[in-house]
Amino acid sequence: MPLPLSELAAQAEAIRIEAQKALNADALAPVKAKALGVKGLIREALSGIKDIPADERKDYGGRVNAIKNELEEFFAKREAELAKQAGAADSFFDHTLPGTRVHAGRLHPVASASRRMVDIFVSMGFDVFAGPEIEYERYNFDQLNIPAYHPARDDMDTYFLPGGLILRTHTSPVQVRTMERIKRREQIIVQMISPGRVFRRDRPDATHTPAFHQVEGLQVGEGVTMANMRWVLSEFARQFFGPETRVRLRPDYFPFVEPGAELAVTCPFCKGAGCRVCKQSGWIEVLGCGMVHPQVLRNVDIDPERYSGWAFGVGVERIAQILYQVPDARMFSENDYRLLRQFR
Ligand code: DAH
Repeated sequence: MPLPLSELAAQAEAIRIEAQKALNADALAPVKAKALGVKGLIREALSGIKDIPADERKDYGGRVNAIKNELEEFFAKREAELAKQAGAADSFFDHTLPGTRVHAGRLHPVASASRRMVDIFVSMGFDVFAGPEIEYERYNFDQLNIPAYHPARDDMDTYFLPGGLILRTHTSPVQVRTMERIKRREQIIVQMISPGRVFRRDRPDATHTPAFHQVEGLQVGEGVTMANMRWVLSEFARQFFGPETRVRLRPDYFPFVEPGAELAVTCPFCKGAGCRVCKQSGWIEVLGCGMVHPQVLRNVDIDPERYSGWAFGVGVERIAQILYQVPDARMFSENDYRLLRQFR
């Protein structure tokens, strides 16, 4: 009985599927024999040719030959594939070689110091505000009780832009912006903290860079006193520098506060005994602060007879330099991974 052509094609396809599942040359050989071997499919088909009517023989023979060629080509390809895989598996692979190292991103030391400061005030109920780096002279100076020609303007060498705009020289203008925004004037309470970048036309050296960071704080309300300021700043210092930290307030001058003060903390390295970091004094000056000047309140329509407040501003690079013992402030903007990798 001759093998019908449809049957031949179906069996050839079944063999190809089986051949795809053979994963090495040894497994492939018997499958190939089923197709092309002495007792294989093609031989079987050819041996039936004699039983086919003479006028159909040529057609049948042609089809069988075509399928045979297809199978030969298929097996040659499959054999080559398996040989290549076997070769790859044999080649040497050292599983003990270290992999490609992936460096995780981390916070810049200045960012992390700034965030730690902000977090402490947030935990005490302060809200975070942001102000623009390009600022009006009015907010940066005039509203803060620093009129034109006031000598305090010389302390903050300013980058001027056209149209009464400047690069802000401190974060204090955010105080003004925050107080200006208050809508419910019948009961004013402000507790805000504002981190940000500031700019001064300073010649870069170990403690100056033309762009640096500050964190500003402000509390305004009825009956707010310097005692509130002292407690909040002491608590901040304890949380930031360590629980045994003590604070010292000394008179200082800033046009937007009266009285103004400078806050120092006991040196976190020697606990006040005196060491290289605190230059044997036992104290480190950390920030400027004071009671908001009545004129600053008046400038934003807050009645200084009824309300009072205190404020502070701290330089983040300065604190980070002391805390992390970074000898030169310029290192913070060099993006040298050998420095940056040491922080999280
Ligand atoms: N803005 C001041 C500076 O950049 C720092 C400062 C001092 C901020 C006293 C204050 C303050 O809010 O009350 O030097």
